[in-house]
Amino acid sequence: MLRNKNIILGVCGSIAAYKSAVLVRLLIKAGANVRVILTADAANFITPLTLATLSKNPVYTRYFEEETGVWSNHVELGLWADYMIIAPASANTMAKMAGGLCDNLLSAVYLSAKCPVFYAPAMDLDMWKHESTQANISKLTSFGNTMIAPNNGELASGLHGEGRMAEPEEIVAFLTDTIKKNLPLSGVKVLVTAGPTYEPIDPVRFIGNHSSGKMGFALADQMAVLGADVTLISGPTAEKSTQQVTRINVTTASEMLEACKLNFSGTSITIMSAAVADYTPVHVASQKIKKATEEFSIELKKTTDILATLGKLKTKEQILVGFALETNNEEEHAKGKLIKKNLDLIVLNSLNDAGAGFQKDTNKITIFNQSLEKTVYEVKSKTEVAKDICTEILKLRMA
Ligand code: CTP
Repeated sequence: MLRNKNIILGVCGSIAAYKSAVLVRLLIKAGANVRVILTADAANFITPLTLATLSKNPVYTRYFEEETGVWSNHVELGLWADYMIIAPASANTMAKMAGGLCDNLLSAVYLSAKCPVFYAPAMDLDMWKHESTQANISKLTSFGNTMIAPNNGELASGLHGEGRMAEPEEIVAFLTDTIKKNLPLSGVKVLVTAGPTYEPIDPVRFIGNHSSGKMGFALADQMAVLGADVTLISGPTAEKSTQQVTRINVTTASEMLEACKLNFSGTSITIMSAAVADYTPVHVASQKIKKATEEFSIELKKTTDILATLGKLKTKEQILVGFALETNNEEEHAKGKLIKKNLDLIVLNSLNDAGAGFQKDTNKITIFNQSLEKTVYEVKSKTEVAKDICTEILKLRMA
């Protein structure tokens, strides 16, 4: 959830500031880009050097760093962030946030940020209970800010009660859960097929194709970015997922069919981008075939069309997306497959288009929906193409 996300961590003056070192470490470990802003008081509790080393970025404390002559642009910082976390959030900073004050860099960045803001209060029991603090929390909630509630326990003052900042592990778990819950495909089961299939001829040879699996892997990654629980059924490929997806490796068309049938029920979205072999040898030789004759032919039989099989099983609630790779009469063939296989969308690739096809990092697609309306796209990277396909699928879910 946090991979490649830009996070501003604001640290206020509180003894809990010592925990921000662990928090930065956990965010970095989760793949986030972290920039830390310390208030002047926070710098008394934890050194900028510690947080700069852990975050691998300079730490910001003031608008203007006299030693370096660097001006910290609060607007640029606020817009850079995908998420802002203020932890520990002191009663003073919470009051500034609620009141719109900006007499330091942290509160100015807060006012400039357009991203979701999370804050983890840390203060003594009576400060926490005070009507003023509670009124500020209500105000921050009305602004759409999310509080990561403090724990009950021993406080730095020696008192016992509410006000202890949530532990760094709890903050990261809260953040990831909230982000995941708010994603458009949170909890949605998605099935994607990718790559070629290999149909064995004998123990050393097979019939395959040039599919790299790049398009299917990009789709699976993009669906996971949108919060989906993705199962990726892949033929032989060197590709790797960059997101959390459940991968099932198969080799032949019949193995892919079985895996798809097993995983289809309960999925809301299925995208079949695999280049499945249409024919497979009738007999697979148990020993290596020797070159004994001048001519040699292999008897082939049709494989089961997996997409058409799922098209027959599909319920009204399930979205089924197929691909069509064509070399001639492209649009007619694609539309024919859309109807024949009972699909919701078909993605057409033409091998005649520069920038489209096997092994490439780019693709050029046209999408047809059930009303046979078409959307034509430019040549784009396969990641961008995957985003376009996901956008069309999201539109269908909202229709
Ligand atoms: N497909 C499938 N099972 C097969 C063959 C194809 O599920 N045995 C799926 C592919 O994953 C793709 C779609 O069907 O989503 C279209 O594949 P394509 O190779 O373009 O077309 P075919 O239906 O195989 O027809 P033809 O080869 O005659 O063009």
